[in-house]
Amino acid sequence: MKFISSIAALCLLGLSGCSQFEETSQPEKAVEQPSLANDVIEVGKDYHSFANPAEVLVQHISLDLTADFSLKQLIGVAKLTITRVDETATTLVLDTRGLVIEKVLANGQELGFELAEPDAELGAALSITLPSDGNIIDVHYRTSEDASGVQWLTPAQTAGKKHPFLFTQAQAVHARSFIPLQDSPQVRVTYDAVIRTPEDLLAVMSAANDPDTERDGVYEFTMPQSVPSYLIALAIGDLQFKAMGQRTGVYAEPALLESAAAEFSDTESMLEVTEKTYGPYSWDRYDLLILPPSFPFGGMENPRLSFITPTVIAGDKSLVALIAHELAHSWSGNTVTNATWRDLWLNEGFTTYLTYRIMEMIFGTDRYKMEAVLGYQDLQADIASLPANDQILAIDLRGRNPDDVFSNIPYEKGALFLRELEQKVGRENFDKFLLDYFDEFAFKSITTDEFIAYLETTLLKDYAGALDKSRIEQWIFAPGIPEGAPVPESDAFSSVDNFRTQWLEATITANEIDTEQWTVHQWLYFLNNMPETLSEAQMVELDSAFGLTQSKNNEIAHSWLMMAVKNQYQPAYERLFDYLTSIGRNKLVRPLYRELSKTPDGKAFAKRAFEQAKPGYHPLTVKANQGYVE
Ligand code: BES
Ligand code: ZN
Repeated sequence: MKFISSIAALCLLGLSGCSQFEETSQPEKAVEQPSLANDVIEVGKDYHSFANPAEVLVQHISLDLTADFSLKQLIGVAKLTITRVDETATTLVLDTRGLVIEKVLANGQELGFELAEPDAELGAALSITLPSDGNIIDVHYRTSEDASGVQWLTPAQTAGKKHPFLFTQAQAVHARSFIPLQDSPQVRVTYDAVIRTPEDLLAVMSAANDPDTERDGVYEFTMPQSVPSYLIALAIGDLQFKAMGQRTGVYAEPALLESAAAEFSDTESMLEVTEKTYGPYSWDRYDLLILPPSFPFGGMENPRLSFITPTVIAGDKSLVALIAHELAHSWSGNTVTNATWRDLWLNEGFTTYLTYRIMEMIFGTDRYKMEAVLGYQDLQADIASLPANDQILAIDLRGRNPDDVFSNIPYEKGALFLRELEQKVGRENFDKFLLDYFDEFAFKSITTDEFIAYLETTLLKDYAGALDKSRIEQWIFAPGIPEGAPVPESDAFSSVDNFRTQWLEATITANEIDTEQWTVHQWLYFLNNMPETLSEAQMVELDSAFGLTQSKNNEIAHSWLMMAVKNQYQPAYERLFDYLTSIGRNKLVRPLYRELSKTPDGKAFAKRAFEQAKPGYHPLTVKANQGYVE
């Protein structure tokens, strides 16, 4: 049976080895093979949603939710406005995960519904029998205490220590854990919401927020621009607002408000230069929300209100590329959206390219170049360690949870590909192309294949001499980095290389390295490119010369702690424990857990840190790291 099916698959793919008409193959048996269709990716099919938007489409969601901090539940109603795309459709299928569905109503009448057996990664399909008329479906529900997209923090886990905090993180497939909806990036909805909280807390959403709203525990929001479900976001806490510019401001707990506003004071200028280059900002305001340190990402581009980790408030603006990145998503991602998670690189690669451009415009070419080299090195590390299939921009995610495949590939390889296009057609022409692209696909979801088709009618046609379709396909569908791709370089790193080499050769001592003028990026480059092993004496020398164990910069601390684990440098382990138990940003803690897990002592240490940190970690951080401590 298997034999027949694989031969048939070869035929389907038009590959050599197809022998469908040989005697051994029984057509009727071949037809029975379910794996036939599975062997070819159905372009544009969302393999991570059970919803049926091609039949019945949800276009507006109206939420009325109470945040119950003692039960750790959101409780209320989602009113879904539907359109029957297929007039004969009788069922609406939604995505849910861990939701308790209390009842479903239309026109005041209860509707029949069925919750399927849950899939461990994708949750459970909710099938609702549609009423014969009417297009508003009210789903009464509550979330579960361990909802994968919601984190409930105790007062002790916040900066102020007095009030609890809640935040959601929907990307990629977690909106379904706090709203029953069609959880696919192909489905866009407008939304409004009433959020009921304890009276002394403020709720904010990825929607129109009134900074001067009365604090009375009832907050109203509207989101008039349509968004994919992964961009619906809510946070509740002891939040205050400070304006940074005309259209930009920051929400944070009082203790962080001033430092955040100072750190991110370039946000308004970033918004202006991006608009000037890539077209008008579509989302009215652009505010930041500073989360508690357990936020599992650096940032999340929730429209109008990016969610930001506090770990980038370094005091010297050294890590603000993160803001440029989340802002850039307002164009690449939020306005033009990846159609499926296979197409994530259209969001993240374009955004990473834009981030570099914004950083260059605001902070100059030297800084941009340093950041590009560091990004390129991260990419090289992934190319060296990931299986070939995971190095492909248009990655095959069938049967996989998008969370488990997070890497630098969609980001830095995607950005490098666009950099090559820019270099081949010229910067001005490429900027014009991007401006048109954002306009052409505004408020639409796009697949990789649609992007290629668009390239064929634009750049590939206009610059036929400079570009070549097979090269573009290599970038998108093949592993690795194509030969001859741009290689970022920075003069500012040459002297760092020299000093490192001389110190390693013991020609100079650490104290003789002239670090006075070094930027955070030079420090990172200095540390990240050390050999895998150093002697105890070398580690001690670096630490006493530069106080690395005590570095307040979370990225520098991360690089140094990685070295400490690799070399089992004990004097840094107290700091390492503190780092692992006070930060939940996965990108910063996961490599440390991975490295620790390689030795029995390291693993025992990791276990102790993880057990202590776990109650404060986000579900995603727990899931990503628990394998290292088992
Ligand atoms: N949208 C992403 C975060 C994300 C991606 C969440 C995929 C879930 C699935 C966000 O914009 C992001 O890329 N964050 C990075 C920022 C960094 C590259 C500057 C992060 O959190 O590290
Ligand atoms: Zn991003």
